[in-house]
Amino acid sequence: MKIAILPGDGIGPEIVTEAANVLDALRREGLPIETETAPIGGAGHDAAKHPLPPATLALARSADAVLLGAVGGPAYDTLPRELRPEQGILGIRKALGLFANLRPALLYPELASASTLKPDVVAGLDLMIVRELTGDIYFGEPRGRRRNAQGEDEGFDTMRYSATEIERIARVGFETARTRGRKLCSVDKANVLDTSILWREVVARIAHEYPDVALSHMYVDNAAMQLVRNPKQFDVIVTGNLFGDILSDEASMLAGSIGMLPSASLDANRKGLYEPIHGSAPDIAGQDKANPLATILSVAMMFRYTFARAGVAARIESAVQAVLRDGKRTADIAGAGERPIGTRAMGAAVIAALQHHRGSMVR
Ligand code: NAD
Ligand code: IPM
Ligand code: MN
Repeated sequence: MKIAILPGDGIGPEIVTEAANVLDALRREGLPIETETAPIGGAGHDAAKHPLPPATLALARSADAVLLGAVGGPAYDTLPRELRPEQGILGIRKALGLFANLRPALLYPELASASTLKPDVVAGLDLMIVRELTGDIYFGEPRGRRRNAQGEDEGFDTMRYSATEIERIARVGFETARTRGRKLCSVDKANVLDTSILWREVVARIAHEYPDVALSHMYVDNAAMQLVRNPKQFDVIVTGNLFGDILSDEASMLAGSIGMLPSASLDANRKGLYEPIHGSAPDIAGQDKANPLATILSVAMMFRYTFARAGVAARIESAVQAVLRDGKRTADIAGAGERPIGTRAMGAAVIAALQHHRGSMVR
């Protein structure tokens, strides 16, 4: 199990340290885990003048799985777009063909009061967002800046999806729904965008291969509203890159905090990159305040999807749940009157819970 670790910037190194401690604990139990660390994002720019240094990409390619923290920060915001930290993440997703991004929004019952929504709206929430990750307006050409006919500066981007790209992410959506509640909601903007009209046609066509899954379609603006009105109507959502980015941040608050949402970005062979859905949180970086649970839960997803070790994944998730049950809270999930603990204390609590359950659940 060769794992490339890319801490990145801001809180990235802090949260990845805690997740790497989980890997170390599992290695001490005998799992054949090997790790190697490399810079990405702003750290890549500092080390090698590029957000995705060639050595980092080579390491990621040679690994079975990648664990990533987060990238970005104010120090890099004025770099030209090609050199910005965010290009490191976009570049590695594209280079490794990681087109399927799974973002589960699961509410641990212990956190029902951490959500800004009423507890009865979110209680029992278990939603999976399947976000296409290597297409859409993120990568469409042409894009750039130009002077228009009126002599004014213009910026432009191109939203585009090919039928093949839509087909393969639709299949991931249907397959995912099959392992869960057999309900798939495809989110688009087919009342306005040509890209979305094709998206809806292709998803509807693929649906014939999955008669056991109930497919619905929803416009993205309505979906944003329905997510806070009645999120439990959803089982699996499949959507494009841009809409999925926005809706998953929104959905994270249903689970209590953006610090709780892990993700898996998979290629056609289930090789994966695992990262929390949040960013580098410059406002709390270096203060031992960040919630490491999204990153630790991303490690659980790594065992489930890339290493096919569902038992190990479940054990990590149980350790997280045990810690929450024990009342441990970082500031982002602490309620009124609850005293928050730091990143390191939260990580240590998870390791302790993991060791407590040692043996009983290792598979
Ligand atoms: P962000 O997700 O970094 O932060 C948004 C808010 O959530 C902040 O208030 C932050 O403190 C809080 N937050 C995020 N993660 C947290 C955690 N684990 N624990 C507690 N609180 C947490 O989004 P932003 O502020 O819009 O972006 C900051 C930088 O991160 C930018 O440079 C952006 O481009 C980058 N970014 C990177 C990724 C990534 O690496 N995948 C994702 C999103 C944003
Ligand atoms: C995410 C982030 C990235 C995205 C940025 C940092 C490029 O917001 O992983 O959600 O937009 O995909
Ligand atoms: Mn995002």
